[in-house]
Amino acid sequence: MLSHLEPYLLMPSALTPTALIERADQLAASAALRDALLGLGEVPVRIRHTPLYDAWLLPWAAGSVADLHSHDGSYGAVAAVHGVLRETVSTADGVRERIVRPGDRHGYRPGDAHRLAAGDARAVTLHLSSPPLPSGPCFSAAPLVGAGPARRTAAGITVR
Ligand SMILES: [Fe+2]
Repeated sequence: MLSHLEPYLLMPSALTPTALIERADQLAASAALRDALLGLGEVPVRIRHTPLYDAWLLPWAAGSVADLHSHDGSYGAVAAVHGVLRETVSTADGVRERIVRPGDRHGYRPGDAHRLAAGDARAVTLHLSSPPLPSGPCFSAAPLVGAGPARRTAAGITVR
């Protein structure tokens, strides 16, 4: 029998969407994000990496699209930093579309799926995942996350 609690018993294995949104807000106001924005080119940049979560800045060329994808078993949050995107979201509650503007942020649960499309101007988004996704965040016309056999989301949409 343990005489004290082992540290790993006290540590969560994932952050909730609400906790990820709080971290997104902290990052959005940080010097680390401002510095990363100055050097951001055309590829995603990871600006935070911990055992519990990671955070990426994603640049979106005008008109670029990330196909509908899920995030496997990870919780997530996305925040628009610059520009405007259209997002299609599939959850257990159904499918909806929304416009994502700078300052907007949304959380995701495992099994949720979404599609993001930039408008007619460049955009930048901040993506957080917990636990971190092994292959990084979604980006480009091809889904990098959840690639593999097609499966159905809770709302009945087939994703890869
Ligand atoms: Fe995503």
